[in-house]
Amino acid sequence: MRIVLGVTGGIAAYKAAYLLRLFREAGHRVRVVPTEAALAMVGRPTWEALSGEPVRTGVFDDAEHVDHVALGRSADLVVVAPATAHLLARAAAGLADDLLTATLLTATCPVLLAPAMHTEMWRHPATVANVATLRGRGVHVLDPATGRLTGADTGAGRLPEPAEIAAAALALVRDRDLAGRRVVVSAGGTREPLDPVRFLGNRSTGRQGAAIAAAAAARGAAVTLVAANVDAVVLPGGGVTVVPVETTAELRAAVRAAAAAADAVVMAAAVADFRPAAASEHKIKKTAGAGPAPIALVENPDILAELAAAPLAAGQVVVGFAAETGDDAGDVLAHGREKARRKGADLLVVNEVGTAVGFGDVPNAVTVLDRAGDVVARAAGTKAEVADAVWDAVLGVWDRATTISG
Ligand code: C5P
Repeated sequence: MRIVLGVTGGIAAYKAAYLLRLFREAGHRVRVVPTEAALAMVGRPTWEALSGEPVRTGVFDDAEHVDHVALGRSADLVVVAPATAHLLARAAAGLADDLLTATLLTATCPVLLAPAMHTEMWRHPATVANVATLRGRGVHVLDPATGRLTGADTGAGRLPEPAEIAAAALALVRDRDLAGRRVVVSAGGTREPLDPVRFLGNRSTGRQGAAIAAAAAARGAAVTLVAANVDAVVLPGGGVTVVPVETTAELRAAVRAAAAAADAVVMAAAVADFRPAAASEHKIKKTAGAGPAPIALVENPDILAELAAAPLAAGQVVVGFAAETGDDAGDVLAHGREKARRKGADLLVVNEVGTAVGFGDVPNAVTVLDRAGDVVARAAGTKAEVADAVWDAVLGVWDRATTISG
């Protein structure tokens, strides 16, 4: 694929060098088009050496090849990172006073802008209006990250990490092989109240489920994400309908409502198997000398097993997750096989927890089993990569069903 990487004159320009490497390592041809100001931050030799391509900034620099038209026309993807407030303004106004803005005017492929600037500039009504104009024209404008800015200040305006920009950019040009499919994903961990301030919960962050929802949306599916206590920063961006829930009962109701018209349900949430038999209306008090009162638990419905036993829509593929640890009774896979047979879901994604992989913001490694407990796929890598492997496995189930019935 041919990628044009525009770089503008923000301090974060150096991060574009990492982004360039990511694109190159993924096998893409990259033409870097910096603005003059960007060259004051990172020089031309760096861009030429890392891209292996010539680097020009002006519309008249390579007049015999009419570069200012050719680059935009031949690109499969244009990414500008960092995009300064000035670049957003020039793009919104349709100016073509250097090679980058001329390329933006001639590009017919997806365009992603990754803004980076001080919070005041990002929030200024002029910038807000420019971003709205660009988005209205179909340009993808990432929201900047929040955190440390150039000086001692912090706030919204930081360039997102190169890996995030690369994932968002490549998602714009990927196969939309889930187009026309409706899917439901549950993520996070349920909380079962003990009293108004306390609950029984678990450590699930919802990152894997959010990645599964984001991957499905990027591949063209209409996605409902039922999010149990998932932090806002973890939730995927546009294109996903998020239904926030807290308890298992709420999660069950939301999943079943959305599943009634879904082609696939992926239960990535960590759902509490038990809940307190009764939640106290008032905060439970510590009575001196009395010791703790026992907590009586009752079993929650198994949402996954229910869906697997009685699907809510014809041909619906139901996927479960199993976070396992090995023990004396068997290794992770043996426990997974037993669970696959017991739950009856079409697919069970088994991952090992308690080591360096699993919960939290760490890479994941999974084995996907079918309902007989046979391995249909293995995947390791980022949560986004695991998410894609899960959807590939779901596509495999749909394909087999079509082959059998067709
Ligand atoms: O049995 P275990 O809790 O390990 O099974 C995990 C899988 O079952 C996950 O997909 C989880 O979302 C689902 N589950 C459920 N309802 C429960 C417990 C787990 O749907 N009450």
